[in-house]
Amino acid sequence: MLIRNETAADVAAIGRVVTEALRKLPQATGTEAEIVERLRAQGALVLSLVAEDDGDVVGYLAASAARIGAQPDWGLIGPLVILPSRHRQGSGSALMAEALRRLRATCRGAALVGDPGYYGRFGFRAFPGLRVTGCPPDVVQALPFDGTEPCGELIHHSAFGLNQHT
Ligand SMILES: CC(C)(COP(=O)(O)OP(=O)(O)OC[C@H]1O[C@@H](n2cnc3c(N)ncnc32)[C@H](O)[C@@H]1OP(=O)(O)O)[C@@H](O)C(=O)NCCC(=O)NCCS
Repeated sequence: MLIRNETAADVAAIGRVVTEALRKLPQATGTEAEIVERLRAQGALVLSLVAEDDGDVVGYLAASAARIGAQPDWGLIGPLVILPSRHRQGSGSALMAEALRRLRATCRGAALVGDPGYYGRFGFRAFPGLRVTGCPPDVVQALPFDGTEPCGELIHHSAFGLNQHT
């Protein structure tokens, strides 16, 4: 399995993987593939990594710039998706490891909204005061690289359509 940057030839496959991986996830909105397209169109993808196996895209990770309260320079990870037929083969971990390695060079930390049962293994955790309005606090998680204590609303790029206010 190979982790690499997306190319123009991957765009359609990425959309399919995002849609297929999230089809049965209760908290998914069905708009995640469009969010990735909007992030790409707006030049907001800090990372756009694919997991390739035997020439096929089997997984995908996006990262975009985010703010937590008044703190800039957080890397927001999401979506992270693996084709259901390829779950539990290490692809999600490999994408995350590469994303964190790269974000460390440019960000004060990584943040995401997701299942703590999965993301805890990479060092993500909830922090007092770290929030996304409307989300349960335990799913809003961060991994500071430099000891910064994340506190405040995790502000996503406008392409997520969350209409967040500070
Ligand atoms: C979550 C997801 C990205 C994990 O990808 P993956 O390639 O299957 O994960 P890995 O093979 O790297 O698994 C790493 C470990 O996490 C565990 N794990 C996988 N999915 C998990 C989940 N949903 N909850 C808790 N643990 C999970 C694995 O069992 C494995 O544990 P082990 O190392 O002790 O065996 C993938 O299942 C997926 O795309 N799911 C649907 C979309 C989704 O839920 N995205 C996350 C949004 S919250």
